[in-house]
Amino acid sequence: MKETITKYLQEVESFKADNLEDLEHFRIKYLSKKGLIPDLFSRFREVAPEDRKEIGKMINDLKQAVQQKIVALKELLDQKSGPSKTDLDLTLPSGETIGTRHPLSLVRNEIIDIFSRIGFSVSEGPEIEDDFHNFSALNFPEEHPARDMQDTFFIEKDPDILLRTHTSSVQVRVMQKSQPPIRTLSPGRVFRNEAISARAHCIFHQVEGLYVDTAVSFASLKQTLYFFAREMFGKETKTRFRPSYFPFTEPSAEMDISCNICGGKGCNICKYTGWVEILGCGMVDPNVLESCDIDSHKFTGFAFGMGIERIAMLKYRVNDLRLYFENDIRFLQQFKRAF
Ligand code: DAH
Repeated sequence: MKETITKYLQEVESFKADNLEDLEHFRIKYLSKKGLIPDLFSRFREVAPEDRKEIGKMINDLKQAVQQKIVALKELLDQKSGPSKTDLDLTLPSGETIGTRHPLSLVRNEIIDIFSRIGFSVSEGPEIEDDFHNFSALNFPEEHPARDMQDTFFIEKDPDILLRTHTSSVQVRVMQKSQPPIRTLSPGRVFRNEAISARAHCIFHQVEGLYVDTAVSFASLKQTLYFFAREMFGKETKTRFRPSYFPFTEPSAEMDISCNICGGKGCNICKYTGWVEILGCGMVDPNVLESCDIDSHKFTGFAFGMGIERIAMLKYRVNDLRLYFENDIRFLQQFKRAF
């Protein structure tokens, strides 16, 4: 009997299956009711008592070897045959795989589209900037407290290399490269060292606008931005300008629009004032024109800057900034039809 068991064990160890059918035959041969292992157990009664311990163990080991072999070969065959039939669901609807534009791209494109209708081109600049383009040329003197208005991510010190804190840096690059008339829009990513919350993020997007020519006035600025507000938020939209301060514009202002969510009646988005701020603007400070080699006696200009997230928030009523960066498919899918 010992020889028979040893022979079976060798057979089991060297067995190979090309397919599941072979494996099933193997299982039946050894483990089925009339298989070789139950047969060995039934002949166990004939074994002499002194051999029982040893032979009993041999039969059990053989049974275990067969079971392990079956598991191992099954796994191997499954891998070979690729995904099982159950992975393929032919009843699933098709044609749902088209992606969607990100809401921030939609809003950026719409802003560009509106301004391009009144002659603005698009210009871009680097996200990694030097101190001159981000601060000095924009009339932030060294050690000026206005630099504290922005928490900057510095990459290198002396000379300062940093992640731009606003797209106003692109104004400088455009003016250095070209003489008026200049009418350009600069969309892009900006970076500030802020804790991430529903209302603040360390990365966000801005669009900067710049118009420099002879006889550009504050009236031109107001009319341009009024046109934008009505195109973006609807014909009923009202605007108001409040005096403000930016180092690179003089005078400076912030523009509010009548709250498009409550129609000016008062809600928690406009904090019950009926107005929401959408951008900063002003007449380009003559010092800025001069640092870019533009004659400030001959030319004047206006500039404005707005946050794309803020415009998107008002447009789509999404007031948690983090949603724009998490790429949760459930959020993004809602913009499906808004191409
Ligand atoms: N750079 C300003 C900021 O990041 C936005 C801004 C305000 C841009 C006024 C301008 C401007 O061009 O005139 O907060």
